[in-house]
Amino acid sequence: GKVAVLCGGHSAEREVSLRSGQTVLAALQQQGIDAHAFDPAEQPLTALLSEQFARAFVVLHGRGGEDGTIQGALQYLGIPYTGSGVLGCALAMDKVRTKQVWQAAGLPVAPSAVITRDKAVDWLGLIDELGGKVMVKPAQEGSSIGMSPANSAEELEQAVALAHRYDNEALVESWLSGPEYTVSILGDQALPAIRVQSTHEFYDYDAKYQAGDTQYHCPAGLCELEERALEQLAVTAFRALGGRGWGRIDVMCDKDGNFKLLEANMVPGMTTKSLVPMAAKAVGLSFEQLVLRILEQNEV
Ligand code: DAL
Ligand code: MG
Repeated sequence: GKVAVLCGGHSAEREVSLRSGQTVLAALQQQGIDAHAFDPAEQPLTALLSEQFARAFVVLHGRGGEDGTIQGALQYLGIPYTGSGVLGCALAMDKVRTKQVWQAAGLPVAPSAVITRDKAVDWLGLIDELGGKVMVKPAQEGSSIGMSPANSAEELEQAVALAHRYDNEALVESWLSGPEYTVSILGDQALPAIRVQSTHEFYDYDAKYQAGDTQYHCPAGLCELEERALEQLAVTAFRALGGRGWGRIDVMCDKDGNFKLLEANMVPGMTTKSLVPMAAKAVGLSFEQLVLRILEQNEV
């Protein structure tokens, strides 16, 4: 039946989603699948029923698309969809709750604190407690939007104010020196890890989509044992959140070389520069084959 490629949406990652959607749509159509783009910001989801779509390929990033709300609506409408369900998406969209689940499961994460908008904070005490350098993130964003590093009490206050423009909760994490890795998940399995080497102070929005100066290494340059450990960690972390179908787990090393889980993406980017397609290529899966595999995951 007809496939709706859900892309666009209202989130801050709308532009990325439109790009992901275009590539996914083209790949499906190339393989003879009757697929059409569908932007929930432009028409109500109920139009999926009146236009007789049989299922949905979700390529919405960020809030209102990757956070369980669309998944719940699709479920309510009885339309099968790709990727994780309501719980997995809702948890993964929220970096604070993601870390709580991982911590409870005994998985490694960096030390951190959560600052809400109304909280009085001893900025100097906080940055000292977290090792003098931190990364500040809005709890529920993607593509590094609203993120910034801080080296002093003053910078910390500014970084938290920036994160609070996007979210009531700012996550303040101890600085991780890297290297940074990302592990794509397809079905039950991890694809080879990619090492991301940004020339920017961190892998920001510009480094992800615009600058073209980020280096990606796949194989990641880990020894066999470390590669297996990293892949296993990613699969365990994905499952702990209730992940399903496909996704991507971002990981960073601390200064002692220990892997620390950063976050989970339940609808990772699928642009031409994105990481899941890159990892798939490393095991001989073309973009078209990858898209088909993701679509097949939700066939019951
Ligand atoms: N949040 C972006 C789309 C990613 O993780 O690829
Ligand atoms: Mg993300």
